Amino acid sequence: MAIRKIQDDFIYVGGSDKREPTFENFFTTPEGMAYNSYLVLDEKTVLFDSVDRSVSKIFFNNLKKALNGRKLDYLVITHMEPDHSDSIEDLLLRYPDVTIVLNALSLKMLNKFTGKDMKDRAMLVNPKTEFSSGKHSYKFINAPFVHWPEVMFVYDNYSKVLFSADAFGSFRANTGNIFDDEIVLDEAYYLEQRRYYGNIIGKFGVQVLQVLNAIKDLDIDIVCPLHGVIWRSHFDEILKRYKLWAAFQPECTDIVIIYNTIYNHTSDLCFELASMLAERGVKNIKMYDVSKTNVSYLVSEVLRAENIVLAATTYNAGLYPGMKNFLQDIAALNIKNRNVALIENGTWGPISGKYITEILSKMKNMNIINTPITIESQYKPEKNEAAFYDLVDKLVDLYNK
Ligand code: FEO
Repeated sequence: MAIRKIQDDFIYVGGSDKREPTFENFFTTPEGMAYNSYLVLDEKTVLFDSVDRSVSKIFFNNLKKALNGRKLDYLVITHMEPDHSDSIEDLLLRYPDVTIVLNALSLKMLNKFTGKDMKDRAMLVNPKTEFSSGKHSYKFINAPFVHWPEVMFVYDNYSKVLFSADAFGSFRANTGNIFDDEIVLDEAYYLEQRRYYGNIIGKFGVQVLQVLNAIKDLDIDIVCPLHGVIWRSHFDEILKRYKLWAAFQPECTDIVIIYNTIYNHTSDLCFELASMLAERGVKNIKMYDVSKTNVSYLVSEVLRAENIVLAATTYNAGLYPGMKNFLQDIAALNIKNRNVALIENGTWGPISGKYITEILSKMKNMNIINTPITIESQYKPEKNEAAFYDLVDKLVDLYNK
């Protein structure tokens, strides 16, 4: 995409990719991915972060156009993950006089990624550093583990702009519209925002709450993340969601059914359960087959909804790989504060409920609401109906609370 003006002396020079199928070579990106970069044209010129190699060509074209013949004086690095740093060596070749503004830990990482000692190119900063490019002066705010340990936010005192690194970012290409008030912030948008947060930053809720506290008294007009849209009209809305997500609090009492199935017997019983819930007035029931769903969507759904049903077949005397992977992932991401119902299936030796219980019991405040219902091969009303009715009663109460 072309450059866009944010303010008179403040230009968007990033780029979007819709070709790569994944982010971090894992998270599917059907809506593409934006890699944002920002240029301040002050007495000195200051670039805030570079971009992933997938968009480096458009980025360098944008940067050259925005500089309009001026030299680049500073590159500020808010963190060193390669989706924002992979173009730095190329940048240094094109703009050999640039000074790299970064913290001490970022410099160590820069040296590791480039295989060179970059200290002679660097200006080290910390929260006590006073840095100015002319009219604009900048405050550095440590934001460790939002998302990598060296992350810092930068606040521009003159423009009242917060450069927020990965925070408030999203999966999704910027299709020309780079501002939050140029798109519809509907559930499709928030799905990608939540999916990004949950999978990329979600593990570090404590640290996110700390940095939200650190910025709470800043007078902020514009928030510029490294992915997704620029927040200038609806920052309060995403801030409200961040406070919930960081505290691992659900957005709603919706019921999400996550299952694995081999020959459709387990999925059939999940449809049976969903129908029973719907008959009792439960709306917006979601069902996901772990084999058909990138785990990032499951993480997002567990972040959104309070009530989760897990239905799992027994497989090789343990858990089916997709179910095991999902559970290990949400445990690693520190998901907590959810109600979980369990159903296990097995033609012989059903034991998946025991293994799921073991994983959930090591997580914080995961409330298992039933003794796992055991299905042998398939749902049989004469044998399973009573347990299902009891489970439906419990889920309906939790949904309506
Ligand atoms: Fe978008 Fe942590 O990098």
